Amino acid sequence: MPISLNPLENLLLMKTNIVPAPILDFFGSASFYSINAAVKLGIFETLDQKPLTVDELADQVHASETGIEVLLDVLESLGYVKKKKNTYCNTRMTQKWMTAASTINMNIGFEYYYPVMKELWPHLYESILKGGPYIEFYQWLGESPETASLYQKFMMTLAALFIPDLVKKLKLAKNCRNLIDIGGGHALYSIALCKKYRDLQVTIYDSPYAKPIALKNINNAQVEKQIRFVQGDYVIDDIGTGYDAALLCNVIHEHTPEENLQLLNKIFQSLPDNGCIIVVDNIQNINISKAADFLTGMFSLLYFLSLGGRNYSFGEISEWFKDSGYKKVKKTALGLSGLSLITGYK
Ligand SMILES: C[S@@+](CC[C@H](N)C(=O)[O-])C[C@H]1O[C@@H](n2cnc3c(N)ncnc32)[C@H](O)[C@@H]1O
Repeated sequence: MPISLNPLENLLLMKTNIVPAPILDFFGSASFYSINAAVKLGIFETLDQKPLTVDELADQVHASETGIEVLLDVLESLGYVKKKKNTYCNTRMTQKWMTAASTINMNIGFEYYYPVMKELWPHLYESILKGGPYIEFYQWLGESPETASLYQKFMMTLAALFIPDLVKKLKLAKNCRNLIDIGGGHALYSIALCKKYRDLQVTIYDSPYAKPIALKNINNAQVEKQIRFVQGDYVIDDIGTGYDAALLCNVIHEHTPEENLQLLNKIFQSLPDNGCIIVVDNIQNINISKAADFLTGMFSLLYFLSLGGRNYSFGEISEWFKDSGYKKVKKTALGLSGLSLITGYK
């Protein structure tokens, strides 16, 4: 957890400018590497068994005592571990989000994000100069099956976080029988909708690399009769017709405004009158919380760096909706995540 300033620190660093606040950002990325090292060493899993002293922990994870001691100091100031007398234990945050026993285990995010930090972020400067990705994300993923698998697992972790609220707030029309999940990837959103609407038939439209994980999840959830996977490129290929609704979950941020307008138009052509389009994405400029704004901004930079896309404001998205012909455009916020649900009708 990023450090939060106490009132005195806030005065010195932010209000009076006596201490150079940028010094904290020198170590922003180092915080990531520190937590990544803890994940790789298995520190959180080990401390989940019982509190340990530095030498006991070093012994159990086969690492140097001095290394573990300096790392634990940082993990404590970041809020991951707590020192009690001479032993260390996981904080409640770590227990809830960072171990194999967690319902939603964010460790996978650190594993996936490691190659992203090492290979993509260093090229932000070139991307900004160029106006698009220096390394194309899906080509990069294609060259590393291990990273591609971690990426899918991380997308599934995030999906598990957001699905309950989405499924509660998304209300499909009574006569909605066929839905296309564009860029549906791992299939978890489609599966959740099929469990809510037992008469729904879903077509997941995605590239071939997503197929194995999607089919595995569909089989595990035993919804084979409700979901089919169609492989293709939704930018250039025909997506077919016969759908009452189209879902684009975390898709528009991967594209430029021109590509999105083209895609929304293509979907409009494939929908019947009153057909529904549903966009779920991070929305820029919602100003609901400092943390949500920070995350939305950083994700936006990452999408620009790796895909040439970014997060868009509700104003931009509703303009595309209206330009494509959709009516009754509406936005619903999904918790404090920065994620919103935007619907429109043909
Ligand atoms: C960010 S993921 C979103 C996955 C899922 N909808 C979710 O929200 O977790 C974007 C998905 O779009 C797919 N995708 C991106 N560009 C595509 C294209 N041109 N044609 C087909 N699928 C594409 C990717 O393979 C990936 O599964």
